[in-house]
Amino acid sequence: MFPRLICVLLAVSAAAGQQTGNHPDWPRWCGKVYESGYPAFNPGGQTVEPPRSGPGSRLYVQVSPRYSLYLDSETEGEFIVRTTLSPYFGNNLAAPAPAAPSLSSYDVGDRELHFAITLDGVDTDSRGSALVSGTARFNFQGHTTQDTLVPFNLTSPLTTSFAPQNVTLRGWVASPDGSSNTSYTATSSALVYLPDKTSGSVTRLDNAYGGFMQRGGRAQGSNYTDKAGFRPYFPYGYYASFDGFLAGVTDNASASAIIGKYAKFLFNAMTPLSQYPQSATAFSYMASQTDLGIQFDLREGYTNLTWVAEQVSAARDNAALFSYWSADEPDGHQDPFSAPLQARDTIRSIDPYHPVAVVLNCQNYYFAAYTAGADVIMEDVYPIGINTTGITKWGTACNTTLGDCGCDNCQGGNHSIRDVADRLDDLALYESWTEGLWPKTKIHNPQSFHGEGYWARDPTRDESWAMSLVAVNHGAQGLISWVYPVADASNGTNSSDILPLAHGGLAQILSRSPVVDFVVGNARPTPILVPSLPDLDVACWRRGKQLLVSVVNSGYEDYVLHNTTRSGPLFHIPIPQDQPYSHIATVVWGDLLWSFAGNLTVRHIPALSTALVVLSA
Ligand SMILES: *[C@@H]1O[C@H](CO)[C@@H](O)[C@H](O)[C@H]1NC(C)=O
Ligand SMILES: *[C@@H]1O[C@H](CO)[C@@H](O)[C@H](O)[C@H]1NC(C)=O
Ligand SMILES: *[C@@H]1O[C@H](CO)[C@@H](O)[C@H](O)[C@H]1NC(C)=O
Ligand SMILES: *[C@@H]1O[C@H](CO)[C@@H](O)[C@H](O)[C@H]1NC(C)=O
Ligand SMILES: *[C@@H]1O[C@H](CO)[C@@H](O)[C@H](O)[C@H]1NC(C)=O
Ligand SMILES: *[C@@H]1O[C@H](CO)[C@@H](O)[C@H](O)[C@H]1NC(C)=O
Ligand SMILES: *[C@@H]1O[C@H](CO)[C@@H](O)[C@H](O)[C@H]1NC(C)=O
Ligand SMILES: *[C@@H]1O[C@H](CO)[C@@H](O)[C@H](O)[C@H]1NC(C)=O
Ligand SMILES: *[C@@H]1O[C@H](CO)[C@@H](O)[C@H](O)[C@H]1NC(C)=O
Ligand SMILES: *[C@@H]1O[C@H](CO)[C@@H](O)[C@H](O)[C@H]1NC(C)=O
Ligand SMILES: *[C@@H]1O[C@H](CO)[C@@H](O)[C@H](O)[C@H]1NC(C)=O
Ligand SMILES: *[C@@H]1O[C@H](CO)[C@@H](O)[C@H](O)[C@H]1NC(C)=O
Repeated sequence: MFPRLICVLLAVSAAAGQQTGNHPDWPRWCGKVYESGYPAFNPGGQTVEPPRSGPGSRLYVQVSPRYSLYLDSETEGEFIVRTTLSPYFGNNLAAPAPAAPSLSSYDVGDRELHFAITLDGVDTDSRGSALVSGTARFNFQGHTTQDTLVPFNLTSPLTTSFAPQNVTLRGWVASPDGSSNTSYTATSSALVYLPDKTSGSVTRLDNAYGGFMQRGGRAQGSNYTDKAGFRPYFPYGYYASFDGFLAGVTDNASASAIIGKYAKFLFNAMTPLSQYPQSATAFSYMASQTDLGIQFDLREGYTNLTWVAEQVSAARDNAALFSYWSADEPDGHQDPFSAPLQARDTIRSIDPYHPVAVVLNCQNYYFAAYTAGADVIMEDVYPIGINTTGITKWGTACNTTLGDCGCDNCQGGNHSIRDVADRLDDLALYESWTEGLWPKTKIHNPQSFHGEGYWARDPTRDESWAMSLVAVNHGAQGLISWVYPVADASNGTNSSDILPLAHGGLAQILSRSPVVDFVVGNARPTPILVPSLPDLDVACWRRGKQLLVSVVNSGYEDYVLHNTTRSGPLFHIPIPQDQPYSHIATVVWGDLLWSFAGNLTVRHIPALSTALVVLSA
């Protein structure tokens, strides 16, 4: 996870790294030279906004299976038909002139997309290839994207296959007066229909809301199970070292002592930095004796497909397994674009029942190419204690064309918490700028370490909570911190349990009912803007008659009102009026003193404070 690994990786696998971007013969990180003695230059690989066309009257149609996989024990699947009023992609929607110049209020009235979704490679003349046909109604008043969930039967012409199958949507939209009729097509190469799995676990991704759904594991998650047996799962834990931690596990008794201590922090996930055979006992102990899910680390040898196949064959039936991790910072290392794709295809050919994650380190370096082999995108934005204005440990300045200061194109300082939010927003933006791309599940890797000449200190407890919850507000569906065990503070203080305790406290709230049921498998976060409190980062999730509100003061200044008379002024967090909420059901996280009278109100929001509040009708 560290740029310092450049040296190590270059030594062992020079052939794998340094192949993309400009000046591949120079030592670079995220495409930029980091050692002194070289000139600054454009690293290349930026994802940029496509040209906007017209006044925003294009209809962009996308299709995706709701879940990343279906099993032949299920009878029904769902497609998501996504209609977006796009300035970039799609066909012109025959429509009257825009009612308003602003895109979000552009009203095309109630319209209908009539469509049929067919399986590719089946004779299209014989009607045998149609999986479903129907109508998606949309109206862009107030929002620019609408999803229609379309159930379909998991029957002929569909047959099970480890390989993803392709589907094509063909449809048309007629103008209200019947004067024009525009046709649309969309494709997905992500329909996965598998024979049921009788051993171990199955994890699938929810393409509507982005979260993990798990069946068969013991990992702590939601109290609720869907009709196919899957439960919403929000993985929260640490990357766990071999040296100084898992290396000590030699039998069940040592596993109980060593992994038991980790589990007692109340995490529900771990990314062990270890493999078969040396950690076989630890892996089987985790599956049978703990509630921890495993993300399986393949990064060290992910370009050796023989080794990948051996490890996946050993891991695939472990009930704790929830995902694989193939490439670590391939963008930082400038690995060949094909490497993460080949690793993913090798994994899938042996185990298509678990998703594959890739960690990105760079802010904007060949995003689409480096995530093409990822089902899950992790980002390791480590902004605490960096110095973006001085001379780096390598002796250069650090900016968008030169240098490496531990957090690519981050601002650090007062902006550290926002750096995390900004990165997740950036990744979502690049997805929206890439035609045909369906947004992927995101995980944030919270910083829980210092050192390496980049990071002057550990985050504090409050910074850790703020970074984690701001990531959730911006769409993260899992949190895996680097790295356990946490080293003692730079001043030598024995502080190794402080951050695991902080993260574990939040993990037991985020990863279990009721919070997990709002955040996973239910809705994407809706941002709430509070213009008068610019450091406040607020999002909400509606579920039935309840609303979860997450509030983070992402700044280093307290918001405080000194007039404490009963009728004195209060800070207001405006609550969406989509349905009436009457009271606070529970404050599930944080010690701020909330009141509710149509909006959430509070008198004191200290720097870096965090809160999770559930409102009820
Ligand atoms: C699924 O199959 C059932 C029973 O054959 C049928 O009634 C239903 O209409 C089918 N649904 C779809 C979406 O094709
Ligand atoms: C599915 O689509 C992908 C991407 O367009 C293509 O590479 C692949 O050959 C297609 N597979 C089949 C079976 O049609
Ligand atoms: C629009 O065109 C499609 C073929 O592209 C046709 O099937 C459909 O009936 C037409 N709709 C109207 C209202 O003309
Ligand atoms: C650990 O315990 C499990 C279940 O009780 C048992 O099957 C396994 O053989 C034990 N492993 C070792 C290394 O003792
Ligand atoms: C690749 O992995 C295989 C299987 O573990 C091993 O035998 C081989 O030496 C590895 N190749 C390289 C180049 O490291
Ligand atoms: C950053 O490093 C420079 C020296 O390179 C130093 O002058 C400056 O105070 C440092 N800033 C921070 C915030 O540590
Ligand atoms: C980055 O810093 C180098 C060295 O000071 C300078 O030459 C270059 O112009 C800077 N790049 C940007 C984008 O400011
Ligand atoms: C943060 O910003 C405030 C005001 O904008 C400033 O007074 C303070 O020094 C800044 N702190 C840091 C660590 O940069
Ligand atoms: C050492 O660092 C820790 C963690 O940053 C801090 O809590 C503690 O107060 C520091 N101790 C001293 C003596 O500076
Ligand atoms: C979830 O289940 C646990 C254990 O059965 C129970 O203690 C808890 O109250 C439940 N939580 C919710 C929100 O239903
Ligand atoms: C506090 O607020 C109350 C109610 O708005 C107002 O009457 C009072 O003057 C305020 N006190 C101060 C010290 O501003
Ligand atoms: C809630 O806040 C919104 C936006 O600031 C405001 O328009 C609305 O009147 C407030 N509602 C109540 C009940 O205070």
